[in-house]
Amino acid sequence: MAILNKAIFILSLIALPCSYVSAKDILDKDTGFVIDTGFELVRANCTACHSSGLVIQNRMNRETWLDTIRWMQKTQGLWPLGDNEKPILDYLAKHLSLIHISEPTRPY
Ligand code: HEC
Repeated sequence: MAILNKAIFILSLIALPCSYVSAKDILDKDTGFVIDTGFELVRANCTACHSSGLVIQNRMNRETWLDTIRWMQKTQGLWPLGDNEKPILDYLAKHLSLIHISEPTRPY
C-alpha cells in the first residue's frame, strides 16, 4: 500500500502541472496568461502593480476572485474595473479556477 501511495503521489506531481495548460492553450509569452477572451483586459488591469505570476499562481472560484479584487480595491489602490469587471472575472474563473486544476481535459 505504501508503494502504491508513493506512486500516486509521484504521478500527481507530474500530472498537476500538466493539467494547467492543455495542449490547445496558447500562452502569451510575456505574461504566461492563456490567450482567450478577456486576456487583454486581464493583462492591462492585473499586471500594473505585480507580476502576472502572482495572478497565475492562484486558484480561486469566481466569488473568491471577486473578494480578492474588492480587497485590492479597498487596500491596494486597485481602480474600479467598471464594465471590464465581468469579462475579467469570466477569464479568471475559467482559466484560474479551483475546478480547472483537477480537470484532465476541457471541453473547449
Ligand atoms: C493598484 C495595484 C494593483 C492592481 C492593478 C492589481 N493588484 Fe493584485 N495585488 C496588489 C497588491 C499590492 C497585492 C499584494 C502583493 C503582495 O502581497 O506581495 C496584490 C495581490 C494579489 C493577489 C494575491 C492575493 C493573495 O491573497 O495572496 C492576487 C491573486 C492578485 N493580486 C490578483 C490581481 C488581479 C486578478 C488583478 C486584476 C483584476 C490585480 N491583482 C490587479 C495590487 C494590485
